[in-house]
Amino acid sequence: MRTPLVAANWKMHGTQAFARQLLAELEKGFASSNCSAQVLICPPFPYLSLVGDAVGEGVALGAQNLSEQVSGAFTGEVSAEMLLDCGASYVLVGHSERRSLYGESNELVAEKFAAAKASGLIPVLCIGESLEQREAGKTLAVVAEQLAAITSLGLESPWQDTVVAYEPVWAIGTGKTATPEQAQEVHRFIREQLGEAGVSTQILYGGSVKADNAVELFAQQDIDGALVGGASLKAEEFVSICCAAD
Ligand code: PGA
Repeated sequence: MRTPLVAANWKMHGTQAFARQLLAELEKGFASSNCSAQVLICPPFPYLSLVGDAVGEGVALGAQNLSEQVSGAFTGEVSAEMLLDCGASYVLVGHSERRSLYGESNELVAEKFAAAKASGLIPVLCIGESLEQREAGKTLAVVAEQLAAITSLGLESPWQDTVVAYEPVWAIGTGKTATPEQAQEVHRFIREQLGEAGVSTQILYGGSVKADNAVELFAQQDIDGALVGGASLKAEEFVSICCAAD
């Protein structure tokens, strides 16, 4: 019922030459496989158009962040309209690196979510607990609070045309993946929190997803794909993850 989605988060990596090379390798990889997962690529801002022009219709384009503001004197910020103008249809919102390194609170993340929604961009809302929070048994409470910040906006259908990515902070870029059971437990909880609309909302898992752990993660009932960082910079690895999501 829910189409699997695999999203690449390139973070702050690469050059134009690197991006072109990776895209060429991905194209080759996808051509010789027949996977039908939806694929989304989120490059750094300056490479949005380059990626958008290079990928075919089958691959969606997303940004890694956006401003909560519509336009104006906000030096260094990028608006939802600008992202749409560059061909993006998705945007990551509230990635844990934004939350922890750039001080994005639940409230600011909610404002960014609202800005994405108002423009027609599909937000990929990233949520998840730190190691300390998990060890204190607070995982579900933390995730519930992150979701509640969005619900409290009072938007008409916040979870329609929205993607949620559960990314335990302790699993991001560390090589430590949540076990399929740990991930499934939180995914099911998230889906319950989303209410009726949650039945069709894609909920992705993120945190050290690789070709060799993707199959067992995707086998879980409430895991609809992945948000992939490090492994999305290696064509063969990323294509294998996409194919595992079929
Ligand atoms: P990772 O990153 O796959 O390198 O752990 C995931 C993410 O930050 O979205």
